[in-house]
Amino acid sequence: MEKVEKTTILITGGAGFIGSNLSEYFLGLGHKVICLDNFSTGHHHNLKDFINNLDFKLIEGDIRNIEDCILAVQGVDFVLHQAALGSVPRSINDPITTNDVNVSGFLNMLSASRDAKVKRFVYAASSSTYGDSQGLPKVEDIIGKPLSPYAITKYVNELYADIFSKTYGLETIGLRYFNVFGRKQDPNGAYAAVIPKFVMQLMNYESPIINGDGNYSRDFTYIDNVIQMNELAITSQNLEAVNTVYNTAFGDRNTLNDLVGYLKKYLAEFDSKIADVPIIYGANRVGDIPHSLASIDKAKALLGYDPKYSLQEGLKEAVSWYWNNLK
Ligand SMILES: NC(=O)c1ccc[n+]([C@@H]2O[C@H](COP(=O)([O-])OP(=O)(O)OC[C@H]3O[C@@H](n4cnc5c(N)ncnc54)[C@H](O)[C@@H]3O)[C@@H](O)[C@H]2O)c1
Repeated sequence: MEKVEKTTILITGGAGFIGSNLSEYFLGLGHKVICLDNFSTGHHHNLKDFINNLDFKLIEGDIRNIEDCILAVQGVDFVLHQAALGSVPRSINDPITTNDVNVSGFLNMLSASRDAKVKRFVYAASSSTYGDSQGLPKVEDIIGKPLSPYAITKYVNELYADIFSKTYGLETIGLRYFNVFGRKQDPNGAYAAVIPKFVMQLMNYESPIINGDGNYSRDFTYIDNVIQMNELAITSQNLEAVNTVYNTAFGDRNTLNDLVGYLKKYLAEFDSKIADVPIIYGANRVGDIPHSLASIDKAKALLGYDPKYSLQEGLKEAVSWYWNNLK
C-alpha cells in the first residue's frame, strides 16, 4: 500500500477508543500526531503507551471552543475527526449537549480546517444515518429517517462536509462506522458499548443482559479494519474517492446470540468457568433496528479497502486484550 510522506495528523478525540488506536498506529508509522480532546469520555490511560513519544502532542481542549480548534489545526496536513459524544441513549437523555458537541463542534473543526488549508478532513460518520431504512445490505446512497438525536447529528455532519467540499474546496471523506469494537474500548459507564460491557461482565461471572431475544444482528467491525479505512482515506490519490462517504464495516452480520457465544468460548480459554455463565434476556430497546449489514463494495472499489478481521478474528484479539489488561 502506498504510504503518505511523514505528515502531521490532528486526531480529535484522540484519547477515546478509536482516536487513541489511530494515534498509536500513525505514530508507529513515523507521523507526527496532535490529539485534541477534552477527556469527557476519553482517558489519559489510553495515551500511556505513546504520551512520551516526541512526535506526539496533546492539546487538552474542547471542539465547542473555536479557539481550541484554530490552535489545534496549525501546521496540520490531515484531520481525523473522531471527537463526538457517542451513544444513542445519551443523546435521548441530553440532546442539547450531543448537538453542541457533534454539530457545533464539528462545524468549528470544519471551519478551522478550511482556514488552515488542511489537505483532507476525514471524519467519523455513523451507520445510524441509515435510520429506519429496511433494506440490507446498506448502500451509501439509500438512507432512511434518523431514529435518534445522535443519528441526526451524524447525518448533519455529512451534510456540512458536503457543503464545505462544494463551497470551499475542502477535501472531505466521511467514514460511516458500524459497531466498532476492540482494545481500549471503554467497558464502564452507563453508555458503554455492548462488547466491552459483556466481556467485563463475563470475566466477573456476571450474566450479560441481551435486549430482546438475541436474534437482532449487527455488522460488528474490528478496530484494525477501521484503522485501515482511515489510512486509505488520507492516502488515496483517487480524485473520485474524495468528497463522499463510505461504509466502514466488515460486511457480514452476526446476531447478539452469536456474539455472546463467541465471547464465552474465547473467554473460557482463559477461565473455563465462564462457559457456564447464564445469559439473561430483557425487553427490546426503543429505537433499536433489528438488523444492520453494510455493503463495503464502494470502499473496495474506490479506496481498495480489504478488511482483515472478521468478528471472530477480532473478538479473539479483543478478548485477549481485555483479559491481559483489565482482568
Ligand atoms: N464506536 C463505535 O462503534 C462508533 C460507531 C459509529 C460512529 N462512531 C463515532 O466514532 C467516533 C469515536 O468514537 P469512540 O467509540 O472512539 O468514542 P469515545 O467516546 O471513546 O471517543 C470520543 C472522544 O472524543 C472526546 N470528546 C468528546 N467531546 C469532546 C469535545 N467537546 N471536545 C474534544 N473532545 C471531545 C472524548 O473525550 C473521547 O476521547 C465518534 O465520533 C463516534 O460518534 C463510533
